[in-house]
Amino acid sequence: MAEDTDKATSMKIGNIEIKNSAALAPMAGVADCAFRELCSFFGASYTVTEMVSSKGIHYSSKRSAELMELSERERPAGIQIFGSEPETMAEAARFALQFEPDFIDINMGCPAPKISGNGAGASLMKNPKLCGEIVKAVTSAVEIPVTVKMRKGWDDNSVNCVEVAKIAEANGASAVVIHGRTRQQYYKPPVDWDIIRDVKCAVSIPVIGNGDVTSGKRAKQLYEHTGCDMIMVGRGALGRPWLFREINEYMRTGTVPREPDQEEKLSIMVRQIERMCSLKGEYLGIRQGRKHIVWYIKGFKGASSLRNQAGHISSFEELIKFKQKILDKSAGC
Ligand SMILES: Cc1cc2nc3c(=O)[nH]c(=O)nc-3n(C[C@H](O)[C@H](O)[C@H](O)COP(=O)(O)O)c2cc1C
Repeated sequence: MAEDTDKATSMKIGNIEIKNSAALAPMAGVADCAFRELCSFFGASYTVTEMVSSKGIHYSSKRSAELMELSERERPAGIQIFGSEPETMAEAARFALQFEPDFIDINMGCPAPKISGNGAGASLMKNPKLCGEIVKAVTSAVEIPVTVKMRKGWDDNSVNCVEVAKIAEANGASAVVIHGRTRQQYYKPPVDWDIIRDVKCAVSIPVIGNGDVTSGKRAKQLYEHTGCDMIMVGRGALGRPWLFREINEYMRTGTVPREPDQEEKLSIMVRQIERMCSLKGEYLGIRQGRKHIVWYIKGFKGASSLRNQAGHISSFEELIKFKQKILDKSAGC
């Protein structure tokens, strides 16, 4: 038991010391710098940027450069790149170094047609030889560690993450992240934790298990079920960045810390969106923040009407009024 807990509270990706029990998953359009910083504050063991196109980097897209900006408050942090050409991926990894990531992560899991339809993301898993060439090109291009995030396989007839993980290891990857679903499943149940255990048994590099962790208890179950070295949490942390504190505490002590009350949740939400506004400007910060507001107010009294109101918030001032209105209502004003 003590051994399990130790394993879950420290591991290494290459030479980088990783502390705590759960990493924040890369999530395009959601896990921006403001959210990643907040998750780190609550104890995420590391963070990864939204995926960045290697072609976008090649063509010097401004958007790609913005996505790679890292803050000191979110370290250790990786930059995730996607693409299907070994040389372009290597070039992107080299370019990313100017943002001083702690490691580079290669995306082999994105199911979206605009990515996987172009031979990148999860569709790479249909071509294990190319997977190996990409990992080799990237690990040869940079001196920092390289990780690979993949799915279980393309579909139920081609479950090959064990093979692809071995190929990644043989070509120099420092760790693999396994999301226990096929590309065909997208995000639908069930998630397959057995396959994560199979990968753990097949490679010597650290294995990070991913899929459907939403509580400290589920985190511990994933560790125990798979023997994995770290777990990664995505959707479970949306509107609940304090989930990392819960997981860390549950892994350490077996107890669940008190959930923030409504006022605390709203303050955390405002803090996140204020940071989004300072990083992206108020116009974008508020518009992109709306979906986060909806996640934060989940379960609040009158949530459906609040959701509707959240969709119309168009300034930081209105956000503060929105928060106050909820608090006044719950105080019976
Ligand atoms: C909105 C959204 C965006 C995502 N974007 C990425 C991405 O950019 N790169 C990536 O490797 N995975 C991405 N994923 C997949 C997550 O990293 C993670 O593997 C998946 O959500 C399963 O973990 P969970 O059950 O904890 O959410 C995304 C998932 C969601 C829900």
